[in-house]
Amino acid sequence: MRSVYIHIPFCHDICSYCDFCKTRYRKDWADLYLESLKYEIKSKYNGEKIRTLYIGGGTPSVLDIDELNMLFEITNLFDLSELEEFTIECNIESLTNEKLILFKKNGVNRLSIGVQTFNDKYIKLLNRNHTKDEVFEKIEMAKMIGFENINVDLMYALPSETMEDLEYDVDNMLRLNVEHISCYSLMIEPNTKLFINKVKSIDEDTDYEMYKYIEKRLTNREYNHYEISNYSKNNYESKHNLVYWNNEYYYGFGLSASGYLEGYRYDNTKNMNKYNAHDYISNVVKISDEDRLRYELILGFRKIHGINKKEFNDKYGVSIYEVFNIKELLDKGMLSEDTDYIFISGEWIYRSNEILVNFV
Ligand SMILES: C[S@@+](CC[C@H](N)C(=O)[O-])C[C@H]1O[C@@H](n2cnc3c(N)ncnc32)[C@H](O)[C@@H]1O
Ligand code: SF4
Repeated sequence: MRSVYIHIPFCHDICSYCDFCKTRYRKDWADLYLESLKYEIKSKYNGEKIRTLYIGGGTPSVLDIDELNMLFEITNLFDLSELEEFTIECNIESLTNEKLILFKKNGVNRLSIGVQTFNDKYIKLLNRNHTKDEVFEKIEMAKMIGFENINVDLMYALPSETMEDLEYDVDNMLRLNVEHISCYSLMIEPNTKLFINKVKSIDEDTDYEMYKYIEKRLTNREYNHYEISNYSKNNYESKHNLVYWNNEYYYGFGLSASGYLEGYRYDNTKNMNKYNAHDYISNVVKISDEDRLRYELILGFRKIHGINKKEFNDKYGVSIYEVFNIKELLDKGMLSEDTDYIFISGEWIYRSNEILVNFV
């Protein structure tokens, strides 16, 4: 069994904070791109059964109906007979009744929708194009069509955001009553519009206060905090993202996609011309036993329940207490343990980077 990530690098507009690999949608480019994507998959896929399939971007829902049909023709190249989770990333303005019905017909069973904020002032600052009412209408439409597993992305720590602003976003988020919520603190990345305009990040204390506020509000409702930035209702954790955090193999197809297969990690090119000329891979690294172990810790500790001690021992033939400075981190209280798991101590999760850097 394998997992698959497919990258669709097109968006209707470019958000002021985004440094993902994407470009403004153009039909001629999208058509060429899908042709090359099909070729890439045909040349690399080995016929395994696929357990989770994730189409991300960019904004896959920006593709028109003909292109989406082409995309599903491509995903049907995979053996989907035992597919458990099929996610497609969408944003509000490009979601239509027709597209949602097409997704459903083609086996998509999870939507991941970028909302970020319900507040007009920040929608404008982020260069997004929806209104609060549209968010409610489109998510209701998706539920009516039968989607029972929906994730919504929320961003916080927006420039000069107040706790009242955040309360407004969290109240609305909870009213959506979706199964999964991802919450990201805004990062002002080089070469984005916010960076070029010298927009200032919020101070660290407020960022922390916001993180704690979100955690409290969501866990007081029926959401479990299961990964640093992710919350879900019972049994609605993202199966696909857990493949990454469990350090398992997956295919990555498309511009800038990464994959991890048979002991090698690879990155695809970010150059569209090269990609369309079938020059896909930009680098490949063989993962040594030690690197595999590093990844296991760096990715595994992102999960709030942490790493299972016995499974670690079975997988690596060594006790987790014996690797890196795990014992010291336990002594210092940065890590904690129960009978089965070692995990980042509650108050350290917000500062998890300071722990994970020990394994880099
Ligand atoms: C690549 S986007 C895909 C979703 C879709 N394109 C959309 O924006 O609606 C994935 C998510 O990453 C988050 N994200 C992107 N850039 C970020 C940044 N600079 N800081 C924090 N979160 C960011 C946003 O919440 C976004 O929804
Ligand atoms: S956040 Fe999403 S919609 Fe905005 S530019 Fe990035 S990928 Fe595109």
